[in-house]
Amino acid sequence: MKNINESNSSCSITTKNSCCCASEETTSTKDLKSHWNKAYTNSPEEKLGWFETDLSPMLQLINNSEVKKNARIINIGAGSTTLIDELIRQEYTHLIATDISEVALKKLENRVDNKNIDFIVDDILNSKKLNTINRVDLWIDRAVLHFFTEEKDQDTYFNLLKSKISSKGFVILAEFNLRGAKKCSGLDIFQYDTAMLQNKLGSDFKLLEAFDYNYTMPSGDIRKYIYTLFKKN
Ligand SMILES: C[S@@+](CC[C@H](N)C(=O)[O-])C[C@H]1O[C@@H](n2cnc3c(N)ncnc32)[C@H](O)[C@@H]1O
Repeated sequence: MKNINESNSSCSITTKNSCCCASEETTSTKDLKSHWNKAYTNSPEEKLGWFETDLSPMLQLINNSEVKKNARIINIGAGSTTLIDELIRQEYTHLIATDISEVALKKLENRVDNKNIDFIVDDILNSKKLNTINRVDLWIDRAVLHFFTEEKDQDTYFNLLKSKISSKGFVILAEFNLRGAKKCSGLDIFQYDTAMLQNKLGSDFKLLEAFDYNYTMPSGDIRKYIYTLFKKN
């Protein structure tokens, strides 16, 4: 990967430690990238307001999906999440971690030190690389979709998701629920309930499981999430 401190770098993908410098970024991509790069630069990972030590709600849904160990699993907006460490520990072999922040992904890449993971730096709202990958068997998003407050961005997100999920594939969406916070990382939040997520996914996706979950931030504050598992027909 190129110099990770170049927050406006045009380097938009790394795959198994190789770097591909892709086309120009839009202004909104640069602004978003800069925001998230600063968040990951200015704070130790374990102090970030979304850092997790207890992965049990997400692991419950992954386990209940019964995806095989060699399933193609993508973690959208992975940041520097500890979920990737855990999935490696559980011997999942085909993991893709993607995020707009190359700072976050570099921290993750350095920590897990695993050559079999694809790290893709891309803006999901202006995708240059994610839109070219093969379909995945499981799409995991914790605390990313809820930042997209405009309908056009939500539509972009769900159109990409639908184009990248394999037949009989699974989707896990874990977002702030209707009683959740209205801001995170200084950004506005769009809150969800299960019906809203089902509505966005459409009738090709069947809800398998959903529950509310109170996440305790490193500060001790609570953030209220809805966790959902869907299966594509
Ligand atoms: C609150 S953090 C959650 C990180 C991770 N999912 C976790 O649970 O620890 C939100 C993440 O979404 C990423 N993100 C925000 N907007 C994005 C976009 N347009 N495209 C890709 N990633 C984005 C951020 O860089 C950040 O890592």
